[in-house]
Amino acid sequence: MAINKIERVLRDQVTQLTQKLSKITQAEEIYPLRSLYTGKESELQKALGLLKDLPKEERPTAGSLINATKRELEQAISEKLTKLLSEELAAQDAVRDIDVTAPFHVNMPDVPKLPRVGSLHPLQHEINRMLTIFTTMGFTPFEGREVDSDYYVFDSLNMPKEHPARQNWDTFRTEDNLIPTPHTSNMQVRVMRKMKTAPLRAVIYGRVSRNEAIDAVHGHTFYQIEGLYIDKGVSISNMIATINAFVEAFFGRKVTGKVQPGYFPFVEPGIEYMGQCPFCEGAGCGSCKHTGWLELVGAGMIHPSVLREGGFDPAVYSGFAWGLGLDRMVMQRNGIQDIRSLFSSDIRFLSSAV
Ligand code: DAH
Repeated sequence: MAINKIERVLRDQVTQLTQKLSKITQAEEIYPLRSLYTGKESELQKALGLLKDLPKEERPTAGSLINATKRELEQAISEKLTKLLSEELAAQDAVRDIDVTAPFHVNMPDVPKLPRVGSLHPLQHEINRMLTIFTTMGFTPFEGREVDSDYYVFDSLNMPKEHPARQNWDTFRTEDNLIPTPHTSNMQVRVMRKMKTAPLRAVIYGRVSRNEAIDAVHGHTFYQIEGLYIDKGVSISNMIATINAFVEAFFGRKVTGKVQPGYFPFVEPGIEYMGQCPFCEGAGCGSCKHTGWLELVGAGMIHPSVLREGGFDPAVYSGFAWGLGLDRMVMQRNGIQDIRSLFSSDIRFLSSAV
């Protein structure tokens, strides 16, 4: 091809592009034009390929002609692109009233909505479930106190100073002699004094602290659910039936229960309620440490001196109380092996456990 033919083709390219650009209104329409007029398959590139076929003396002129055309095409494209992009941005800013205090997606309606963030912690989820079960049974929920006095943690529960059973709940103390409470039983007398009248049905949930070495099944901080039922003529069989109804609702299946004597100074008699492992039906498995039974609840008939302390005459009223370790039951229900995972921040665990 002769040099004047190349010149004509290149001129024509500039004219075509200028015409097309003048009709474009959106920045994104420009990108295909850029490859059409300056890309590998463009007339411009073809002209470069033809250089070697021209007579030697014409090559420099043709070469600079091609370069000049390339600059012209690129400049036309980038001027138009800059113009359209700034118009688009100005239009968006005109409609966008930015609220600097709002979450990100509120100011960016054209950005897809963020995925759901966060979920309830497995323990909170189970506390809510347990409270639902008990409130359905007529119990009023109370939140426990995490730090309390000697009086509520021990004395009011029939454990005066020097009582040897205090050692069972040996725990930390603050400098002014308060106790991060080792059990939710510290709420018993408080709740009795607050509710005052029978029938009294209360359920207390709270975080407790123990002086424990930590391993897969022991934590120094865990959760308990405590309950109280006081009325005239409340019996041990009422207590066992109530606990059994709760345990079955919690595990969502039939559970065979048994009781064995247990010592707690604030009840008389005291029991430990065991449930036949609902996962292996007593055959032995990981959840029940191959014993066939789960130790679920400590309970008993409220000691007369605790009733009296709470303002109820033991000659007229009787009642039962129980306390259970929430974390252990959550682990059993979900097949969680290590209590420490409940306090980890591993999002995969936290969102899959329940
Ligand atoms: N407070 C006891 C503990 O932490 C559990 C308990 C046992 C609570 C018997 C009670 C009860 O209310 O009656 O080990």
